[in-house]
Amino acid sequence: MGVSLGATVISTDALAKIGENKYSYSMPVNPSHTNLSKPVTAIIIGAGNRGSVYGGYAQKFPDQMKVVGIAEPIALRNERHSVRHNIPAENRFATWEEVLKKPKFADAVIISTPDNMHYEPCMKALEMGYDILLEKPIAPTERECRDILALAKKKNRIVGVCHVLRYAPYFVKMKELIAQNAIGEVISVQHFEPIEHTHMAHSYVRGNWHNSKNTTPIILAKSCHDLDIIKWVINKPAKEIFAMGDLKWFKRENAPEGSTARCTEGCKVERQCPYSAIKEYYERRTRTAVLDLPDDKTRHPEVIMERLKTTNYGRCVYRMGNDQPDHYITNIRFADDVTASFSMEAFTSYHGRRTRIMGSLGDIVGDMEELVVNDFKTRKQVVFVPKAEDVEEYKNSGHGGGDWLLVKDFVQAVSQQNPALLTSTIDESIESHIMGFMAEESRKSRKVMTVNM
Ligand SMILES: NC(=O)c1ccc[n+]([C@@H]2O[C@H](COP(=O)([O-])OP(=O)(O)OC[C@H]3O[C@@H](n4cnc5c(N)ncnc54)[C@H](O)[C@@H]3O)[C@@H](O)[C@H]2O)c1
Repeated sequence: MGVSLGATVISTDALAKIGENKYSYSMPVNPSHTNLSKPVTAIIIGAGNRGSVYGGYAQKFPDQMKVVGIAEPIALRNERHSVRHNIPAENRFATWEEVLKKPKFADAVIISTPDNMHYEPCMKALEMGYDILLEKPIAPTERECRDILALAKKKNRIVGVCHVLRYAPYFVKMKELIAQNAIGEVISVQHFEPIEHTHMAHSYVRGNWHNSKNTTPIILAKSCHDLDIIKWVINKPAKEIFAMGDLKWFKRENAPEGSTARCTEGCKVERQCPYSAIKEYYERRTRTAVLDLPDDKTRHPEVIMERLKTTNYGRCVYRMGNDQPDHYITNIRFADDVTASFSMEAFTSYHGRRTRIMGSLGDIVGDMEELVVNDFKTRKQVVFVPKAEDVEEYKNSGHGGGDWLLVKDFVQAVSQQNPALLTSTIDESIESHIMGFMAEESRKSRKVMTVNM
């Protein structure tokens, strides 16, 4: 039995019927995965948000990965991770420079430091013979990205880039349907990334990525995933790119009358402001991981208020001196005249990527929850929902399960010394980064850029 779509028949063995023309699907077991004789050992460099996600995998699957070293300057984070992973004192370091002075003592390093601190630890770790799980963006410039690629080749090492969406069952199915010709030849793609207004304020106005020069432009910092997914599903090289976008709202001239430098300084409009730090962190207690709260929850109100008075997270969103665009559109022409338009928007009440793929024999509409596939010939509609058991197991890791499914493949790749087990190798990932660099150049120069891979 099978579900027919375009030129494709999808075996219903892999599908569970959950409604009229609606199926949930399971990801097949990767036949290249093997049982590990011992866990892959790893050092976390940068134990913030992302370091915790990857460390969480080691805790959940100790037979696959063991964290044996750490480099993290914030004492509270360093201590928490060291206890969590039982890291001996001699393998605990404050910085990447220090941990990489010690002779190699693990199979791999996980580089989850800030954007502008990927290149140097990555180059040094490659020199030392480590395999690397490298957070995106690879590095802030094309030259640095290419240096890492060249050194990885020279040293014959694995560099997995954390383009986690490639591992999310939702995007895996999207890619698979297109590859199987379910909608014929892809003609064009529309992809939308709604950031959600308070997420924008948290990360790209107040937070670590508010200054593009100290980190990376938002098209890389936030949207390199999206350029990568667009390129991945189209599966052709990008040829031309044109981008527009600006910082329109989070600027000093839009600061309401009566507002103050910090929300805690008697701001007259704080109660009406959608971006009030007091509402976000103190009242709703959302996004507080960045505030490094103590284990003792009774102290949280006092500590949160102190952080709002002393860190960027309590500052007025209109007075941050931030420069990341809050709306950004990118048009891309790929080989064979396939086109894509991508839109990143701060001002939405929701998040979750939306994609429409237009093919010669059908189309796909997806919202990260389900993929709706229409067949022009039969006029039949089939809906795919990625709610299989294996997704459930990984779903708490974020990015539709992609975070931990990436680590699962990385562990296999390192253990078997086979980079082909990863879909986001450095070679693959560099192409979408170059699209990001070109988009930013286009946005700034207002010119159509030719993309040379
Ligand atoms: N793949 C994804 O979906 C995804 C999502 C969010 C962030 N990221 C990327 O992951 C990286 C980390 O982001 P994050 O949100 O975890 O940031 P974070 O600020 O929470 O973590 C970074 C950590 O690096 C530490 N650090 C700073 N200097 C260091 C040094 N010299 N040596 C060792 N550690 C040092 C910081 O103290 C911090 O704890 C960034 O490049 C970011 O763009 C990727």
